Amino acid sequence: MKTQVAIIGAGPSGLLLGQLLHKAGIDNLIIERQSPEYVLGRIRAGVLEQGMVDLLREAGVGARMDREGLVHDGFELAFDGRRERIDLHGLTGGKTVMIYGQTEVTRDLMEARQASGATTLYNVSDAQPHDLKGDRPHITFTLNGERVRLDCEHIAGCDGFHGVSRKSIPAGVLKEFERIYPFGWLGVLADTPPVSEELIYANHARGFALCSMRSPTRTRYYVQVGAEEKVEDWSDERFWEELKRRLPADTAARLVTGPAIEKSIAPLRSYVVEPMQYGHLFLVGDAAHIVPPTGAKGLNLAASDVSTLYRLLLRVYREGRSDLLERYSQLCLKRIWKAERFSWWMTSMLHRFPGTDDFSQRMQQTELDYFVGSEAGRRTIAENYVGLPYEAIDD
Ligand code: APR
Ligand code: PHB
Repeated sequence: MKTQVAIIGAGPSGLLLGQLLHKAGIDNLIIERQSPEYVLGRIRAGVLEQGMVDLLREAGVGARMDREGLVHDGFELAFDGRRERIDLHGLTGGKTVMIYGQTEVTRDLMEARQASGATTLYNVSDAQPHDLKGDRPHITFTLNGERVRLDCEHIAGCDGFHGVSRKSIPAGVLKEFERIYPFGWLGVLADTPPVSEELIYANHARGFALCSMRSPTRTRYYVQVGAEEKVEDWSDERFWEELKRRLPADTAARLVTGPAIEKSIAPLRSYVVEPMQYGHLFLVGDAAHIVPPTGAKGLNLAASDVSTLYRLLLRVYREGRSDLLERYSQLCLKRIWKAERFSWWMTSMLHRFPGTDDFSQRMQQTELDYFVGSEAGRRTIAENYVGLPYEAIDD
């Protein structure tokens, strides 16, 4: 088999890159370890920055998002018995975010890819990239019991944190930066009406809580739990009781509960690998970086990597500018580190850290009080939350 751009992983990064390239007439093929149903079964993020919304429209997959997605002009921070609104629209000169689940983004991209006739091979195993620095980059993998060779010009490693792409770069090339947080998020998806029109991020003595949503009839709630907690120990009743205790009293009183249609615990981690390129291989999205979910940045960062790689590849194929590719890593990392900072900072400001002394606790309270009490502080939160601008590719 042969293609121009071989893409490993059919999550949002791989599918979005594939769609953009296909629209531009650049041949690409995606290989995915799981089945389509499995990929769609993963419940992940739900807040899209303007940059990602625009990119999905550019890829021709924005129609359902524009019909069904919820535009949010602000969100709330609850702490110390207070509820404070961050007016995203007012503080950023009119920017907003779109509430539309990653599952729906993935579904739209899968349908567009199927309609376009471009190939996605699901259920492949033992994928292995080869000759990354040589003249004949290719991937080998097993499909239906047979070993297949896919020759290509470039490889996009869109295979998430546990994928093979990053691992196939020789030892000593990459530098890893990591912080593991001493807690996780227990999330519940339910077919209940949202407790409030906007998202609520709550800092409470019992731990962080978040009220989010997917639609006017589907909600997503989270509570901070210890790193060692097991989801089996959390009945629906226990979850709802804990959530209510962490919310402002009037919000808790309005909360509509119902059976969980999904319940899972996610660990919190900050992770970046540098560089994101090795020869013909480019790492994209979760394959290169992870953020804790507190800033809603994971999916959006994946989209900005995709945008950068896509725009570089366009110039390679249209203008012969292969020289530009070596800028990929540096262009992406500038924005990634800023999103890592924001996600780490929001996590630090909103969670209870085990073993924290009284001084640190007062510092956390004061930081929240200061930032929401000052227009400059609220603007800082807002401009990061709606998403920093994508990096431009200069000549
Ligand atoms: N071969 C083929 N496919 C693989 C392999 C492999 N060796 N390893 C992993 N994959 C597939 C996974 O099954 C998955 O479908 O790669 C895909 C990676 O998808 P995601 O993990 O969703 O990563 P990405 O596409 O970068 O999505 C951005 O940012 O913060 C998050 O919630 C956000 O999941 C979202 C991510
Ligand atoms: C979600 O809806 O799943 C969600 C929203 C905001 C976050 C994290 C997750 O910061």
